[in-house]
Amino acid sequence: MPRFFSGAVAIAILAAIVYWIVTRSISALPEPGPLETRIFAIVRNGYIHEAAVHSYSKAPLDDPAEISAGQGLFSMACASCHGSDGRSPTNIGKAMYPRCPDLGSPEVQRLSNPELFWVVKNGIRFSGMPGFGNTLSDDEIWQATYYVRSLRTTAKQK
Ligand code: HEC
Repeated sequence: MPRFFSGAVAIAILAAIVYWIVTRSISALPEPGPLETRIFAIVRNGYIHEAAVHSYSKAPLDDPAEISAGQGLFSMACASCHGSDGRSPTNIGKAMYPRCPDLGSPEVQRLSNPELFWVVKNGIRFSGMPGFGNTLSDDEIWQATYYVRSLRTTAKQK
């Protein structure tokens, strides 16, 4: 494990313990605080960045056929949490801790294509984001990735 990463994990575990001692709560109802969100994002993004180094892209990202296949997969596998447009999380998605993000937001679109692919394939432990590596083929995961990428230019439904 790279040194940066083990350091970040140690800090995150420590922060989680301190947070728990201070709040004495594991309830998912309160809004995640800014410090907690920031620390979690640093660890998560650092890990995803390292892990995604070996993902590779197959087809050009602007291929309409791939994006439309991805949209079909998305409505079956992802919309129940992320919303049918990928940008308006459902009540279930909004009740998760961490919350389900708007996939067109700059925070998500900041991820590279291999990073997005890695997230969809592996999921994110300790969050509601499932890994689809056992249920979708790599080709299908790329299609879902292309669809997520296409959301950067779309407007939210409401
Ligand atoms: C059961 C609910 C659920 C389903 C189904 C689900 N997700 Fe997620 N997803 C989440 C949650 C919760 C997060 C936030 C995780 C976090 O903040 O670490 C998330 C985060 C993400 C992210 C952003 C990751 C990041 O690091 O910012 C992407 C991209 C994503 N999901 C894509 C998908 C795709 C594509 C599918 C379908 C193939 C899908 N999700 C299905 C709950 C879900």
